[in-house]
Amino acid sequence: MEDDAELFYRQLPKVELHAHLNGSVSVATMERLIARKPHLNIDHSMTAILKGQRRTLDECFQVFKVIHQLIDTEEDLLMVTKSVIREFAEDGVRYLELRSTPRADSKTGLTKRRYVESIIEAIRQCKEENVDTEVRFLVAVDRRNGAEVAMETVKLAEDYMLASDGLVVGVDLSGDPNVGHGKDFLPALQKARNCGLKLALHMSEVPSQKEESELLLTLPPDRIGHGTFLHPEVGGSQSLVDRVREKNIPLELCLTSNVKGQTVGSYQKHHFPYWYQLGHPCVLCTDDKGVFSTSLSMEYQLAAATFGLSREAVWTLSQQAIGCSFATDAVRQQLQQRWALLLPEVFPTSSCLHREPTALQTCGQGL
Ligand code: IMP
Ligand code: ZN
Repeated sequence: MEDDAELFYRQLPKVELHAHLNGSVSVATMERLIARKPHLNIDHSMTAILKGQRRTLDECFQVFKVIHQLIDTEEDLLMVTKSVIREFAEDGVRYLELRSTPRADSKTGLTKRRYVESIIEAIRQCKEENVDTEVRFLVAVDRRNGAEVAMETVKLAEDYMLASDGLVVGVDLSGDPNVGHGKDFLPALQKARNCGLKLALHMSEVPSQKEESELLLTLPPDRIGHGTFLHPEVGGSQSLVDRVREKNIPLELCLTSNVKGQTVGSYQKHHFPYWYQLGHPCVLCTDDKGVFSTSLSMEYQLAAATFGLSREAVWTLSQQAIGCSFATDAVRQQLQQRWALLLPEVFPTSSCLHREPTALQTCGQGL
């Protein structure tokens, strides 16, 4: 049975802007994939990090390798993408930006083009089936694959931006932050920007990326993923913070992912309050809801409980995420109207000022 808080956070209309497709696959879908490929001898402990467990960042990237073995055909991709979209919709996500790295597989005949097309087809089918969320797609550049592949990936993104009726809206830079250097990707990212693709870049996910972040900020990106080590208290710098603030670049913040991946010591030590108290645009996201066993509702609930946000502040946080999306102005307007219509449903009584019981009261006046 859902309690009052769980119901509130699920009913809260939400915007998800940082979700890697293959990291977002649920246990139920994993079961179907594992049953299809018993010869791989994969079990659930290899595809998800459960409650209370933690892994090093390195170990997290091993998990993705296992998942990629399970998802290697067009059929898998179609099934997985549709399930992930439906699950986000059931969790109250009304606008979703999915991202994924195109992969080819000579054994199954999967090509990078068919990879992207399968995802676009899944988004279209969900729309036809009236799944209640608006979905867009970001093509991901995996930093492990180097500059040349990055350029090819951007070309792919450009082609599908023009051929997907506006479903492909941007490019992501992700992958193991300890591998490669951002400077190698500048030409590809510049090209993406010049052809009208938006840029959502993982930045300062680990402490060693200060110089890289300085470089990437010259683009500048349209959104920053994590930004864990940007601020001076954790080895970043005031000038990095100043530049992010001057350009008003929204941060995609993924609490559970950072705690379970051990780039942040605990929920209390997360950088959310640092930026939130500055009034900087912060968007709560899941990163990999399957791998990290979470949901966007849970992330909102955790943030509220940890940092003492009133329900009114939580509402404002979710509503402000609309403005950080890569949707067109028309879609943003529709979403704003949707939020306005849902307000009385989410706040049936005057419970707006309710605070979560374990509030640390460290922020809440930020926005
Ligand atoms: P995919 O791109 O749909 O296959 O989703 C999984 C991929 O997303 C991983 O192989 C990584 O490249 C990337 N990814 C997922 N989570 C993270 C993260 O926290 N940091 C950097 N890259 C990530
Ligand atoms: Zn990520």
